[in-house]
Amino acid sequence: MSIVLESLYLRINPARYHYLKFILEAYDGLCLLSTVPEIAGCVCIRYPKEQAKKLYNLLSSLAASLNSNCIQKTPMSSKLFFIKTFGCQMNERDSEIMAQLLYEKEYIETSESDDADLIILNTCSIRAKAEQKVMSLLGVLRKHKKRKPGLKICVAGCVAQQEGKRIIERMPHVDLVIGTQNIYELAELLEKQDKPSALTSLADDYKIPAFIPNLKTRNKTDKQPVIFKKFLTIMQGCNNYCTYCVVPFTRGREISREADHILKEAYALVQGGVKEITLLGQNVNSYGRTNTVSKNDSNYTFSKLLRAVAEVPGVKRLRFTTSNPKDLSDDLMRCFEDVEILCPHFHLPVQSGSNKILSRMNRKYTREQYLEQVAALRSYCPEIAITTDMIVGFPGETDTDFQETMSLLEEVYYHGSYSFKYSDRPGTRSKTFDDKIEESVKSERLRIFQTRQDEICLEHNQSYIGKTLPIMIEKTGKKSLVGRAGTNHLVHLPDTVYDCNPGDILKAEIIHAGHHSLRGCLQDI
Ligand code: 5AD
Ligand code: SF4
Repeated sequence: MSIVLESLYLRINPARYHYLKFILEAYDGLCLLSTVPEIAGCVCIRYPKEQAKKLYNLLSSLAASLNSNCIQKTPMSSKLFFIKTFGCQMNERDSEIMAQLLYEKEYIETSESDDADLIILNTCSIRAKAEQKVMSLLGVLRKHKKRKPGLKICVAGCVAQQEGKRIIERMPHVDLVIGTQNIYELAELLEKQDKPSALTSLADDYKIPAFIPNLKTRNKTDKQPVIFKKFLTIMQGCNNYCTYCVVPFTRGREISREADHILKEAYALVQGGVKEITLLGQNVNSYGRTNTVSKNDSNYTFSKLLRAVAEVPGVKRLRFTTSNPKDLSDDLMRCFEDVEILCPHFHLPVQSGSNKILSRMNRKYTREQYLEQVAALRSYCPEIAITTDMIVGFPGETDTDFQETMSLLEEVYYHGSYSFKYSDRPGTRSKTFDDKIEESVKSERLRIFQTRQDEICLEHNQSYIGKTLPIMIEKTGKKSLVGRAGTNHLVHLPDTVYDCNPGDILKAEIIHAGHHSLRGCLQDI
């Protein structure tokens, strides 16, 4: 027999959440409680219809101690959804889009997967480990669905695109597999779907739909309702076919969004209170190369777009990610000198220090060309922090090749890096290379690289001690603040009582440096 559930929203003192949960659980065990991410201090209670009277009596007797008021009784048809996002910022952004589309169809987001009527896994397949995580979570959800037969499970993102209907064949408890170009169809698919299905079409002439984010629909933490920074997608897909990389297969051909749509979105973000924008794409440097992006200018490049977004009144900080050195123009590097709000941080993935390996990776630049770019960037912006991605143990990487990676680390002296052991991915060219490196050798190389990078990070961080930096505040506590420097360093401001909001920029003197963050104290207050 199915139980008809009703739901209500209750705004309570957040400190009383666990108290309320405890009481509700003791209350015949029939009420479900979850926090509601989009409304600060709000919880959603779901209860069997016939228990409504008892529940209202209980809540009214608790009202004073909870400091609560009921703000909305939701329609009976509204369903709860839960999204788990793996991988990169592209996926974060796609999750936001899916959440907004579901809100428009009367779904409500919950932070508790147990309460959800719909669970979406937005997946990543960049390395084998990421894919294994998704598969094991899907295994766990099989049991969950046995307990809750009405539950719908949807797999989105790169594993969905890569595996398509094979996921449903292997895991019949999955209801919907939705590809990276199909997320805008999610809500309709859920509505009309009557049996498990997979929609994973990848079109070469795909047009990224115009989409204005509704900043009220999604915010993960109840205590920090201010959305002050956002990613803004400018392109999707990749044409580079680096031999190790699955992205061209999971995200399709490189398509740039229309400049006009991007600028409209930037205006909307600022109007909604956003202060920092990060322009997002797999290889932003080649924006506008493969399709027309502006009616007025057939040669609209990434640096033109960057300068146009910087002109949007109210944007205080601008960043972008990610770049392929092969497409890095002098004009873009010059932006670090003359676009005032562009943060002095450049993530410039190099992947290897050996020309032989770079060529086998199909990266289309040499170590020498890369070093020239680093020198040019530092001449335009001496304080710039350069970070990178590095792969160790690519097929055929000898000790000498690895030494070249280590010597590149010494030459560039990166402020930070993400480093990975090479991992075989389906469909890639390097998967077919037969000179694979043993796992133990890869692990040892990774350890050596990361140990040295950590030392260099600390050295860089210590060089900030005594300097005063503008910090954009990210979190405000009663007696402390946390913010970020333009260089992307996290800066803790403990023992600081100051009335400010996330997104405000304050000056702080750096007084201590750790491997991964700085500590400072506020100036001029
Ligand atoms: N193996 C290991 N690392 C990889 N990356 C991409 N593909 C692989 C792979 N097959 C890394 C690259 C890339 C980052 C996002 O992930 O360094 O820049
Ligand atoms: Fe992958 Fe290379 Fe494209 Fe980056 S540039 S997404 S590493 S194929």
